[in-house]
Amino acid sequence: MSHVRFGVVGAGGMGAGHCRYIREVVPEAELTAVCDRNPERAQEVAQKYEVPAFEDPAQLFQSGLVDAVLIATPHPSHAELATEAFRNRLHVLVEKPLCVAVSEADAVLSAWRASGKQFGIVYQYRTRSHVKYARHLIESGAIGEVRRTQLITAWYRTQAYYDSGGWRATWTGEGGGVLINQAPHNIDLFLLLGGMPQRVFGQTRTALHDIETEDEAFALLEYPNGAHGYLYATTNEEPNENIIEICGDRGKILLCNDQLEIWTLKHSIKQFTYESQGMWEGIPSERVVYQPEPLPEGTLTEQPSIIQNFARAILYGEPLMAPGEQGLWAMELINALILSSKRGKAVEIPVDRAEYDQLLAELRAQSRPKTRVREQKVTDPKLG
Ligand SMILES: NC(=O)c1ccc[n+]([C@@H]2O[C@H](COP(=O)([O-])OP(=O)(O)OC[C@H]3O[C@@H](n4cnc5c(N)ncnc54)[C@H](O)[C@@H]3O)[C@@H](O)[C@H]2O)c1
Repeated sequence: MSHVRFGVVGAGGMGAGHCRYIREVVPEAELTAVCDRNPERAQEVAQKYEVPAFEDPAQLFQSGLVDAVLIATPHPSHAELATEAFRNRLHVLVEKPLCVAVSEADAVLSAWRASGKQFGIVYQYRTRSHVKYARHLIESGAIGEVRRTQLITAWYRTQAYYDSGGWRATWTGEGGGVLINQAPHNIDLFLLLGGMPQRVFGQTRTALHDIETEDEAFALLEYPNGAHGYLYATTNEEPNENIIEICGDRGKILLCNDQLEIWTLKHSIKQFTYESQGMWEGIPSERVVYQPEPLPEGTLTEQPSIIQNFARAILYGEPLMAPGEQGLWAMELINALILSSKRGKAVEIPVDRAEYDQLLAELRAQSRPKTRVREQKVTDPKLG
């Protein structure tokens, strides 16, 4: 096999972007089918690329036309579609978030394990060189044991964005707000670098928009080693700001949008605190601002790079930058935060599956169809 035959499921704003990446940008990938449950949309995008159109994902999965599917439908359908695709012995690249509930993530993971196929998730922020370097630093122990973490993921969305699809920001159609839609990329990096908390005490609220789900969330986090963290996510702020701070016993890293700063301490805080005899002594530190190497010619941008890596994993066994099973991580934290807020208590990770399913069922039962939808399917131009 010299390239991977892809079918894109969900030909909306993001799915149409993926069709273009697969057809025009990623040499190892070939677009061979498009599926959308909206027949006009399926036809429109399929005709543009001169490939067969499907309305029913099951028919695409059984068509023999594809080796892999890229799932770009609204998140509540991700788990069922991914599970079905694995049952049909297809490789699966799923858009973020993996799904909306940890119980669904468990089901996808067991279908994936039974299939023996490749499983990736479109966490394109992992391709950024400063993120890779921060990860290398943490894994090599450069900042020592983590003592404090912070994530600020501040976005802005207009009401027109929320009105652009009946599914958006509803409990039935989306299964959450900023936490499940905008925040997963940075929550993923935060967990990749800082590890998984064991307890979450959070609050969510709808502060600005006319929507059902949250546009603001914050939480205190507690880690297994006693470290603490703080998380804040919103779609009510301009300019956009994504800040991840991980402080350890030997230094700290600060990712601020696309910049990485690193401080390394001359001594361990734990040791120095008791060894130093000086009343006002501090610990000298060195600060470095990471300067990325120029990328080799032909390096693809973020989402195409994830698709390319996924195709190469299928073709040559290249390690995945964003393995699909790691999509569970963000789901644990997101579900824990929503559960904590709605039930007014601290929530342990791993999240109690039955308890979250019960909450989601209650929220969905109260969910109402939107009265104001002005449909738009436009790929975010900032994605490149
Ligand atoms: N990685 C990123 O940065 C990024 C950016 C934008 C969107 N996304 C993700 O992409 C997904 C889609 O978002 P969007 O903005 O493109 O939404 P959209 O509403 O523009 O498009 C969704 C499309 O899926 C179709 N669809 C719905 N259910 C279906 C089903 N069961 N089978 C087949 N087709 C179905 C709809 O008809 C629609 O055309 C979301 O999960 C979102 O989080 C990721």
